[in-house]
Amino acid sequence: MNRLRNAECGFSESWAAGEHVKSEFKNETEMEPEMTNENEKAGKGYQSTNDERLNASSNPHSAFRNPLVVALDVDSPDQALLLVERLRGVAGMLKVGKQLFTAAGPEIVRKIIAMGEHVFLDLKFHDIPNTVAKAGVEAARLGVSVFNVHAMGGSKMMRAVNEAVTETAEHERIARPLILGVTVLTSHTQDSLTEIGIDRKLDDEVVILARLCEAAGLDGVVASPLEIAPVRSAVEDSGFVILTPGVRPAGASLDDQSRVTTPAEAIRAGANFLVIGRPITAESDPAAAARKILEEINQAENRLSGSSGIKKSREE
Ligand code: C5P
Repeated sequence: MNRLRNAECGFSESWAAGEHVKSEFKNETEMEPEMTNENEKAGKGYQSTNDERLNASSNPHSAFRNPLVVALDVDSPDQALLLVERLRGVAGMLKVGKQLFTAAGPEIVRKIIAMGEHVFLDLKFHDIPNTVAKAGVEAARLGVSVFNVHAMGGSKMMRAVNEAVTETAEHERIARPLILGVTVLTSHTQDSLTEIGIDRKLDDEVVILARLCEAAGLDGVVASPLEIAPVRSAVEDSGFVILTPGVRPAGASLDDQSRVTTPAEAIRAGANFLVIGRPITAESDPAAAARKILEEINQAENRLSGSSGIKKSREE
């Protein structure tokens, strides 16, 4: 049972069907009013009202502008807020991970949400079921739109967090975040899995864990570009969310990513959200870089038909 049915997600129905370009990014002028509105709200110290939060609760994902999740991999709240200010109204979501959260704490999440933006809290919870359930509840109370847990915590842990968060959201009338499972970290190799006692083939392990996430009621998984297609065909629910890092716009530096897809390839392979950091945040005009990526998704949609979706590292 998944919360993100295509019909519930503002962009997702059309994006999942590969028709996102037509429906979501017809032109820049469609985006401008939203930006202006939110900038105006933010300029007045905008905070989500109860009514807005309750609306979000009944249709929690209708407000995502697009599938672009920008990773705020910086070490200070000032740097993060500067980036948010510059990306306001452009990115679909902003990712706060362990580095920024450890440096800046939950306050940075509150501030970003108060600026009218969606937050993906990438803390990859992994602990006993009770602890993860309680951490998930606090993430929901914080107002994040998405958070994640390690699937290797097992189905009992995943069910516990799902149930606790769903109950709290209903009881406290707050939006229920999407809960995603992390399958096998992409830093793992077959050897490093063996080292921790997992003899199964790495790809099979990913698929097994993705199925476990689905059975436990999670909304989706975080999957590398290589895993999008196998996960998509392994799960039954077409609304199962796949969020994918390792995405690079055509011609961009690979940084330390070794296997990448372009944004359009990832979408075509079945991803719902794309996490992109440095190709946007390291640019002198991050909003322009983000808009270019959104445009690339738009334009490449037709060009890339038939692509396998996976490019090998230029170094390989
Ligand atoms: O700057 P870049 O686009 O490489 O950032 C990608 C983000 O996604 C980083 O926050 C990184 O930690 C995260 N990530 C990743 N690969 C994974 C899982 C997460 O790059 N397999």
